[in-house]
Amino acid sequence: MPNYSNYENLAINAAHLGGEVLKKYFNKVVNFEVKPEAGIVTQADKESEIVISALFNKETPGFSILGEESGLTENDKNIKGKWIIDPLDGTTNFFHGFPHFNVSIALELDDEIVAGVVYNPITDETYHCSKGNGAYINSKKISVSKTNDLASSMLGTGFAYQRGDILDEALAMFKRFTYAAHGVRRPGAAALDLCYVARGIYDGFYEKTLNAWDVAAGSLLIKEAGGKVSNYNGKSFSVYSKSIVASNAVIHDEMIEIINS
Ligand code: IPD
Ligand code: CA
Ligand code: CA
Repeated sequence: MPNYSNYENLAINAAHLGGEVLKKYFNKVVNFEVKPEAGIVTQADKESEIVISALFNKETPGFSILGEESGLTENDKNIKGKWIIDPLDGTTNFFHGFPHFNVSIALELDDEIVAGVVYNPITDETYHCSKGNGAYINSKKISVSKTNDLASSMLGTGFAYQRGDILDEALAMFKRFTYAAHGVRRPGAAALDLCYVARGIYDGFYEKTLNAWDVAAGSLLIKEAGGKVSNYNGKSFSVYSKSIVASNAVIHDEMIEIINS
């Protein structure tokens, strides 16, 4: 199997550069704009994406970049490499001084995610993986939990910025899961939520209306840590699916049942 660890290391360096930007601005006054139905975007989101993209443009010049703030930049249409970047996942937390946010970066090569990094600059934890090599926090191997039923499980979720039916549906699902599981958490940074499944803190996570930059790195981390990832129908997952169910694999079917009940 090809080895993608060189890309994993490059993504670690890029995530650390973005993390430095976030630390520089955290708990300081930042310029921000309100995005309709998409929360806010701050100076920190934008500057983090700029430093990350600059490193990738230098080191992998033909690769495309899909960044939350800049959209898709195709550098060479003949090269099927694409960096997928969330330069600040958890912007609402960041803005209010809640110390729970991250930089999330993944590499898609030939339509497959092959490397993923999520960096929490507050705890200095780097979650990293490449296809076939396992999942790690700061070079220490991690794996999903062994919890064997939903009733004994701790889950995570999140809510989209949109209100109306989308929010009402999510709140109804939150109620069903709160009755069925041991506990459900909603900390507000989807990429870290996925890392919590990969390291066995959560036994499962679900959320709808996420984007590729929220889930690309975390979904590979979960697979490499021995877990399972699907869409809400329990069918095969794509980072472009918009819905994700992630678990230790054992409680997956029970989660799909609650989602569709
Ligand atoms: C958001 C966070 C949040 C999730 C939202 C995402 P952002 O990302 O991951 O946990 O519930 O759906 O949009 O906007 O902070 O990068
Ligand atoms: Ca995000
Ligand atoms: Ca973001």
